[in-house]
Amino acid sequence: MFGGTFNPPHSGHIAAACACVEQLKLDKLLLVPTAVPPHKQLPALTATSEQRLEMTGLAARLIPNAEACDIELRRGGASYTKVTLESLRERYPDDELWLIMGTDMLESFHLWREPEGICKLARLAVCARDEGDRQRIEQGADRLREQFGARVDIIDNVPLPMSSTEARGGESLKLPDCIREYIREHCLYMDMDALRERVREMLGERRFAHTLGCEKLAVLLAQKYGADERVVRASALLHDITKELSLTQQLRLCEKWSIIHDYDGDNLEAVIHADTGAAAAAFEYGMGSTVCSAIRKHTVGDESMSLTDRIIYIADACEETRSYPSAREMRELALRDLNAAVISNMEQTIKRLENLGKKPYYKTERALAALIKEKEGKKINE
Ligand SMILES: [Fe+2]
Ligand SMILES: [Fe+2]
Repeated sequence: MFGGTFNPPHSGHIAAACACVEQLKLDKLLLVPTAVPPHKQLPALTATSEQRLEMTGLAARLIPNAEACDIELRRGGASYTKVTLESLRERYPDDELWLIMGTDMLESFHLWREPEGICKLARLAVCARDEGDRQRIEQGADRLREQFGARVDIIDNVPLPMSSTEARGGESLKLPDCIREYIREHCLYMDMDALRERVREMLGERRFAHTLGCEKLAVLLAQKYGADERVVRASALLHDITKELSLTQQLRLCEKWSIIHDYDGDNLEAVIHADTGAAAAAFEYGMGSTVCSAIRKHTVGDESMSLTDRIIYIADACEETRSYPSAREMRELALRDLNAAVISNMEQTIKRLENLGKKPYYKTERALAALIKEKEGKKINE
């Protein structure tokens, strides 16, 4: 058993786990994310339990014989190792149990609940966290042997001096690609206040007020419909990030980032910022594909639209600073029935353009057709 908050799991955990599997010849390694750690307050920007479990599952794929185990998350409450080991003893009655820990845990071990009981249930494997830890480990191990009759093995791993705190700080080399990608995709550990300030510097006052309105409504909708709040917030904040650039500047960005747009309607100037904004979100703000997709689709929609895409599309259209007469009605509709609001807004947009003698974008027409088809499909299923 290798427990931890795994917020996030990082290369240090993986190296230690691999060394243990190899040196102790473990035929199974359970990576166990803790529920509420008894001695630790999780930081404010922390990942949810489900996200920590998912990241732990990704990490497990990089370690032989390893798997993520939700035993403590399912149990909930404070995660006491003794209780977990008892459950594992029941689950694996004939196997030898090992508890893997780092130097810091070794040194606080006497403060854990029932250290003696833990030592009876499992052998301890201690991995160095810092170069020069070796002597501390030897001393700590001797203490535990004397005090609790612990059976302690010291693992020769390549010490990686790092903690999750450092890993969250963006030292991306210390995170495996799959974890880094997961963090990016879910906007984890991202300081949204700092992002909002960055956006404020890029936009004029009115556009920034619109952006804040969009953020507010989008988050409400995310809560209502179960979308990832952080992802929705980041999408809303960045959705118009390039809108104040001239058409020439936008086209220059298209060239710079190899954006091939296929707008066929009139008024390219009004819509191209969706494509350049999505690219800026990726290349300048490090956003993942869900955020970029929502930004790319926020003006004209698309044949396939995720929940986040729909939320950003409609929040942009009817947030509270929008002053057209039916904006309020549209907001209320969005909070009651998101898809109905998206459909209604697309119909209105197409009609408005036609009334102006302009050609609507084919993507909006396709998006509308797809949403109507989806709605009919649901009706048939009901
Ligand atoms: Fe926009
Ligand atoms: Fe907007």
